[in-house]
Amino acid sequence: MEFHHLLERIVQDGSTHAKWLNTLSFMENAGARKISKCEHPILVTQIQLKHAAEEHRHAYYLKKQIGKIDPELCKTYESRELLAPVATRQYLHSLDIKACRYLQKAFQLTKEDLKYAAYLFVTYAIEVRADELYPVYQEILTKESSKIMVKSIILEEEGHLEEMINQLNEFSEDWQLHADKILEIEKELHQQWINAITEEVSQLNYA
Ligand SMILES: [Fe+2]
Ligand SMILES: [Fe+2]
Repeated sequence: MEFHHLLERIVQDGSTHAKWLNTLSFMENAGARKISKCEHPILVTQIQLKHAAEEHRHAYYLKKQIGKIDPELCKTYESRELLAPVATRQYLHSLDIKACRYLQKAFQLTKEDLKYAAYLFVTYAIEVRADELYPVYQEILTKESSKIMVKSIILEEEGHLEEMINQLNEFSEDWQLHADKILEIEKELHQQWINAITEEVSQLNYA
């Protein structure tokens, strides 16, 4: 199922839509925690602090949107409150592990430097994805005249991508070459995630 079409089906059903918002919230929170974990205890920059703060805000904002459907839904990140929970939990974790393996080979880094490189490249890939995902989602929300809105997230994600590119430029001259490899890894994992959600949603609609 095409992504656009999948989202159209998700927003038709309140409880599925709530789970989708909660799944995005979970991802944003995992991303925020990942950024914080990659911070150097002393040399962390203002950009990194801003980035972590905004990803945490996205997690909170998406969680709050669930209340517009039903405040009793998806109060935690328990598996039954997420779409495709196994694939959802796997996505960022696998991306991180695979990216670190690649970066270690490509750059031969110390432990602290590898953490920073992983922050740069993994977050870059996630920002590229976010810049694709949220506008499609917002388009559907607008078309459905939904009370739910992700416009403020879109704006910040665009800023993040720009900031990541600036930081990558400082990190390495040929970052784009390596970033393309990470994007390839991300693309496969993202497809697995979408496939798992598609499967779950089609079962729900069938029942
Ligand atoms: Fe975000
Ligand atoms: Fe972001």
